[in-house]
Amino acid sequence: MPELRFDNRVVVVTGAGGGLGKAYSLFFAARGAKVVVNDLGAGLKGEGNSASAADLVVEEIKQAGGTAVADYNNVLDGHKIVETAMSAFGRIDVIICNAGILRDRSFKAMTDKDWDDVFNVHLHGSYAITKAAWPILRKQKFGRLIMTSSAAGIYGNFGQANYSAAKQALVGFSNSLAYEGHKYNITSNTIAPLAASRMTATVMPQEILEALKPEFIAPLVGFLTHETTKQSGGLYEIGAGKITAHRWQATEGVVFKADQSFTPAAVKQRFQEIDDFDNSPVYYPSSMKDNDWLGKLEIAKGLAANAKGDELRYDGQVAVVT
Ligand code: NAI
Repeated sequence: MPELRFDNRVVVVTGAGGGLGKAYSLFFAARGAKVVVNDLGAGLKGEGNSASAADLVVEEIKQAGGTAVADYNNVLDGHKIVETAMSAFGRIDVIICNAGILRDRSFKAMTDKDWDDVFNVHLHGSYAITKAAWPILRKQKFGRLIMTSSAAGIYGNFGQANYSAAKQALVGFSNSLAYEGHKYNITSNTIAPLAASRMTATVMPQEILEALKPEFIAPLVGFLTHETTKQSGGLYEIGAGKITAHRWQATEGVVFKADQSFTPAAVKQRFQEIDDFDNSPVYYPSSMKDNDWLGKLEIAKGLAANAKGDELRYDGQVAVVT
């Protein structure tokens, strides 16, 4: 199998001063790409900035005979990173939205700033660079995007309400871009990596960390962003050499008659059936079109009234509806 090359392609990697971003930058440069190494040199919580993180990676690439420029902008100023790519190399082909910070705290202790900072870097940062590059990618009818989610985004995690919400948002962002980019040969895929980095250094045993080298995430990123790869709108979990694809699964569900008999008590009566992934026939919706509401309404019309249970009451409780 010939090596997948990126000659003459311009690859932008955000947050590339260390960890996964550095591994991607070295990977792409070794395969012929011109790399924009973006990093503002922030601490793990987004504090401070130092040009040296990006500079060191660029130096390493150049010493190995590759081509790269450093960019020190905050990902929130995505247009400036795109400007760096355009002025250094005159085009932009691949964007790896990778920059990230953590502000892990129980939801009780989480401040508005913890929430906003994490959303800004992960979600707004990915938006800002993609938005600025989008007209260029459309015009040249080529683009390969990677959004970086996380297992915390897929499943949720204690102490990571801010991070997991932003990471799940990136899945929806990428999936929508996959639709809008299709006509222009722009693909967008999401990865949920697991790798040893300063982000995970304190939360995993050494033996596991050694098996989780950031370099072992790059093969998937390289495959998904290659010009011959058309796959788009995917979500992949990857770590320690294992890659899994993810999709939604839904139960067959229950169709209720949509009239006055459709009450919380009626739902309660049949909730076990609604929620039964083990015994119900399941299906795998892959787009909004897969949910045939009109067909379900037709079925509902033909049903007798819903089974009645004891009415569910909320006396003494205070409900807030925004
Ligand atoms: P890291 O902390 O080593 O690297 C993140 C880089 O982003 C740092 O070099 C930092 O300076 C840079 N950065 C932070 N804020 C920035 C900003 N506003 N503008 C530009 N650069 C900025 O972390 P790691 O592990 O390499 O993570 C990379 C991505 O992968 C992140 O999005 C992270 O959430 C995600 N991820 C990592 C996992 C892991 O196991 N390491 C697990 C799941 C997701």
